[in-house]
Amino acid sequence: MKLANKVALITGAGSGMGKSAALIFAAEGAKVAAVDINEGQVKETAAEITKKGGNAIALRADVSKSEDVKRMVDDTVAKFGGLNIVYNNAGIEGESNFISNMTEEQFDRVIAINLRGVFLGMKYALPHLIKAGGGSIINQASIAGLIAVRGGAGYSAAKAGVIALTRVGALEYGRYNIRVNAICPGAIETPMAQRIRQGQPPNPKAIQRISVLGRMAEAEEIAKVALFLASDDSSFATGAPFIIDGGWTIM
Ligand SMILES: NC(=O)c1ccc[n+]([C@@H]2O[C@H](COP(=O)([O-])OP(=O)(O)OC[C@H]3O[C@@H](n4cnc5c(N)ncnc54)[C@H](O)[C@@H]3O)[C@@H](O)[C@H]2O)c1
Repeated sequence: MKLANKVALITGAGSGMGKSAALIFAAEGAKVAAVDINEGQVKETAAEITKKGGNAIALRADVSKSEDVKRMVDDTVAKFGGLNIVYNNAGIEGESNFISNMTEEQFDRVIAINLRGVFLGMKYALPHLIKAGGGSIINQASIAGLIAVRGGAGYSAAKAGVIALTRVGALEYGRYNIRVNAICPGAIETPMAQRIRQGQPPNPKAIQRISVLGRMAEAEEIAKVALFLASDDSSFATGAPFIIDGGWTIM
């Protein structure tokens, strides 16, 4: 078991990659605080873990609100007695609009959830990781933080910001044995990807343009990378953006 006796908090655990990570972390022995704005879905995640003999609680929080983030961390520590791993995964795709058509509200919303949410997750978790003698923070970025995506000014800016936050966090907290890394996924088949396609099946020609492997990834293929970063297997990795994109960014 790679995460025996560890307490892991995962945001956006009601769906997609966060849910997959919650299941995999729990199967590797972690006590999991599964957090999401969607209470019904995150309760399902926790119930699936418990049914399989794992240990999980479901917590509702909006990661863009500091009082919610503080509460999710406090509730996790109160329930499990500490905190070792945080996967700041929750995010939204936001509205797609070219910059001159993007409203300030659209821009601000995606920044609030995808960037400030990660900052808040780090801010309130770090004192507990220091107390635990170390830990691992994994921040969900995107290749959109490395390359330009048409219509995604707010999203790309948020994800580039997540990579920057990751580097600063790694630099500031390495002395406490806390590692901070980011994952930059390419095209992953999740409910978010399905929403972006507006319910249409993946277009094979479009997929050839975004993956040298000629396919999208399953959520588990990212969750396994998160497991690597959460565990001691990645003991010398910190401050790094892990690009897991089927080769999108080399084309
Ligand atoms: N799917 C992709 O191709 C892809 C690629 C790169 C990066 N990402 C990123 O990966 C992360 C997970 O995406 P996914 O594809 O699994 O999406 P998803 O929509 O399936 O899951 C995201 C989860 O986050 C939750 N969430 C949304 N806003 C929240 C908030 N304010 N507070 C708490 N929870 C909130 C949602 O309820 C949902 O359960 C996101 O940060 C996304 O930007 C996705």
